[in-house]
Amino acid sequence: MAVTIKLARRIREVQPSATLAVDSKAKALQAQGVDVTNFGAGEPDFNTPAHIIEAGAKAMQGGDTKYFAKRGAELKKNICEKLKRENALEYKPENIVVSNGAKQSLFNLMQVLVDEGDEVIIVAPYWVSYLEQVRLAGGKPVILETDESTAFKITPQKLERAITPKTRLFIHNSPSNPTGTVYTPDEIRAIGAVIERAGVLALSDEIYERLIYGGIQPLSLAAVSPALRQQVITVNGVAKTFAMTGWRIGWAAGPDEIMKAVQKFQSHATSDPAAFSQAGAAEAYGSVKISDEAVRTMHAQFDTRRKLMHARLNKLKGVKCIEPLGAFYAFPNVSGVFGRSFNGVTVKAPMDFCNVALDVAGVALVPGEAFGSRNHVRLSYATSAQLIDKGLDKLEKLLNA
Ligand SMILES: Cc1ncc(COP(=O)(O)O)c(C=O)c1O
Repeated sequence: MAVTIKLARRIREVQPSATLAVDSKAKALQAQGVDVTNFGAGEPDFNTPAHIIEAGAKAMQGGDTKYFAKRGAELKKNICEKLKRENALEYKPENIVVSNGAKQSLFNLMQVLVDEGDEVIIVAPYWVSYLEQVRLAGGKPVILETDESTAFKITPQKLERAITPKTRLFIHNSPSNPTGTVYTPDEIRAIGAVIERAGVLALSDEIYERLIYGGIQPLSLAAVSPALRQQVITVNGVAKTFAMTGWRIGWAAGPDEIMKAVQKFQSHATSDPAAFSQAGAAEAYGSVKISDEAVRTMHAQFDTRRKLMHARLNKLKGVKCIEPLGAFYAFPNVSGVFGRSFNGVTVKAPMDFCNVALDVAGVALVPGEAFGSRNHVRLSYATSAQLIDKGLDKLEKLLNA
């Protein structure tokens, strides 16, 4: 008998990740032999530093292949030391939960903190998964729109106005994916003061904290005041800092009660992440000098590429890009191209722009719609300067003809 499959409402209402979709379309075209310059992916093109790879390999060879990670306790201790050293935050290992990437850390937190109908404040343009993770938890995303007039930042007043008795959480992400914006310490203090006064919880996604350019100092939202230590859960991971996207190690640090609940939730969802990945992450955070050197080298290259991409984007007809100051994304406004036609396709929205860029010019970008913007596209500059030049040459040919 033919079976009628009925998927749960929970998943029917969720949109697939547009960033992964663009990446797979670009890769599929490349596999067919099409010359695609891919600015879609949100991951460093560098390999993981050698000392970390060695630690992972050694762990596997030494039998660290079981549920219980031999270096798991050391990883938590190293994360606590990192938080103290770099973020002025003191936590005990019990306050840390290590997960399969920061994505899972965030997912866990939404599941343990958000109830049906709870409001979660998200700043747009936002990282794609925040919205869907809130929805998967039954929560109601409350979107605060921003644009380049405020460098894609919210003001404390705007946040204050959005808080209602139903507000459960505020999601803070600096440096931001997709806009590359970075809040200054003063701006973070002002946001923190609103959160503290309102007595709501906040998630601070600091995954790009080591990728800030132009001298702005990072400040953890949880470090703004002792009260905020009880209201803010800090999320971070090794993926972007140490070029370890595929190792799948992220973590959260927060108050006892919340982190106990997160551990309980994770124990039924996935258990802890791969033992040898935890060994690699313990090495990344533990061998501070060697890791810092690798991070500095990658940072310098990202900075050069950032400047190149920013300068070249602003030479495109109809494209305007503010200077990205963090992460590895540029987020240009392409509304100046709306109304123009290419190969019979009239561009009316970022999605059309991306289709034309891929189909006509062979350049993969991510449409702003995925991040809650109707005017922008996202380009990752986590790719070589040669590829940035090549892709921008193609876009120049397309738009400046
Ligand atoms: C803002 C932001 N948070 C979290 C993540 C997830 O990182 P991970 O690879 O550790 O799951 C990403 C990855 O793209 C991101 O851009």
